[in-house]
Amino acid sequence: MKTIQIIDAKNHVGEVVKIGAWVANKRSSGKIAFLQLRDGTAYFQGVVVKNEVSEELFHTAKNLTQETSVIITGEIREDSRSKFGYEIGVSGIEVVGESHDYPITPKEHGTDFLMDHRHLWLRSSKQHAIMMIRNEIIRATYEFFNNNGFVKVDPPILTGSAPEGTTELFHTEYFDQEAYLSQSGQLYMEAAAMAFNKVFSFGPTFRAEKSKTRRHLIEFWMIEPEMAYTHQEESLEVQEAYVAYLVQNVLEHCEYALDVLGRDKELLKKYTQLPFPRISYDDAVQLLKDNGFEDIEWGDDFGSPHETFIANSFEKPVFILNYPKAIKPFYMKPHPTREDIVICADMIAPEGYGEIIGGSERATDYEFLLEQIQKHGLDENEYSWYLDLRKYGSVPHSGFGLGLERTVTWLSGIDHVRESIPFPRLLNRIYP
Ligand code: 4AD
Ligand code: MG
Repeated sequence: MKTIQIIDAKNHVGEVVKIGAWVANKRSSGKIAFLQLRDGTAYFQGVVVKNEVSEELFHTAKNLTQETSVIITGEIREDSRSKFGYEIGVSGIEVVGESHDYPITPKEHGTDFLMDHRHLWLRSSKQHAIMMIRNEIIRATYEFFNNNGFVKVDPPILTGSAPEGTTELFHTEYFDQEAYLSQSGQLYMEAAAMAFNKVFSFGPTFRAEKSKTRRHLIEFWMIEPEMAYTHQEESLEVQEAYVAYLVQNVLEHCEYALDVLGRDKELLKKYTQLPFPRISYDDAVQLLKDNGFEDIEWGDDFGSPHETFIANSFEKPVFILNYPKAIKPFYMKPHPTREDIVICADMIAPEGYGEIIGGSERATDYEFLLEQIQKHGLDENEYSWYLDLRKYGSVPHSGFGLGLERTVTWLSGIDHVRESIPFPRLLNRIYP
């Protein structure tokens, strides 16, 4: 007899198989028991009919408790009433591990309780659906960059550089030196682009941000492509193609998960249409002022109400171009005719999900960059390797970083970034 996974049930209709599963839920009457089974690949129903099985088996079925692990034997059948489409007619149950007083019951629980039980909460169907979408975004990311001639390069996690400013660093000891946990692999990816042309990284990044918002994590994963001989406009084309590819693949491969989450698929389809709109920072400020925002002046960074208003003015993700130099990191390319702005772009997701990509063209001039490093109060000795890239064959280059969890949150249509990563690190939470 074959052992299968629930997700493959469609290929075994009419066969008697074994499945290793857990009991997610159960309903029973005197004559029939319905077991809601999950095995990590999917959820479906096991049906135990009293007068088709032994008395002992029916008794076992009726007394199964939530999250008991079981090896089920039975015949796979079509089940037109369920969304999944298949069920198993149970003829055998072997209890593997008992489970008593499982804390997460089908009733409503508060967020703190669920976060304290994250190691168990992950088993629920909503969390399962979100993680399947996360997994698809990761899969499609590798596929997109591999198909487009990018080489995967892994920047270090322990580092002495602070590309995104020195206020949000996690300090750590590195024998007798000081080191930080990486905020961004970008500077190393620039070195890699000079060696391998088009590169991308995918790894964890850390920000000691004291912000408690629904968009901020302390530890998050970032995809950071970097491209030699590439100006901003070409980089924007890669960014929109990449994001549209993610949406397309989630639509194609995660239909069931999107349905579990109640996500509007027609809306998502719109986000696969290229190009995405572009608006300059200057025009975005004007747009806000024209619409009654009195708390914004040229030179300010956008807060989430501003981003949401700008996003709602378009039907697709939107690029905001060329921010004031004073609110952006030291490495961005200066604008050729204006001293007050830099060549950069943020991509803002629709529906109020905020910034999902930050990117820019990079400064190529040695003297300019040295001056910026000094002005930002950084130690030039620690950046001499980075300055070398401008000494030995400097070329125009651009890159960007996409936040994985923000993207998962958006495509899943959930309220808070904490549910987009298996074990979120948040302000005041490092457990479990
Ligand atoms: O805009 P950021 O800070 O850009 C960089 O780090 C650049 N060095 C990237 C590059 O050009 N290679 O971060 C990039 C993205 C943001 O757009 C956002 O999606 C995500 O990373 N992000 C966060 N996600 C969750 N929690 C946080 N605290 C985040 N901070 C940034
Ligand atoms: Mg940013």
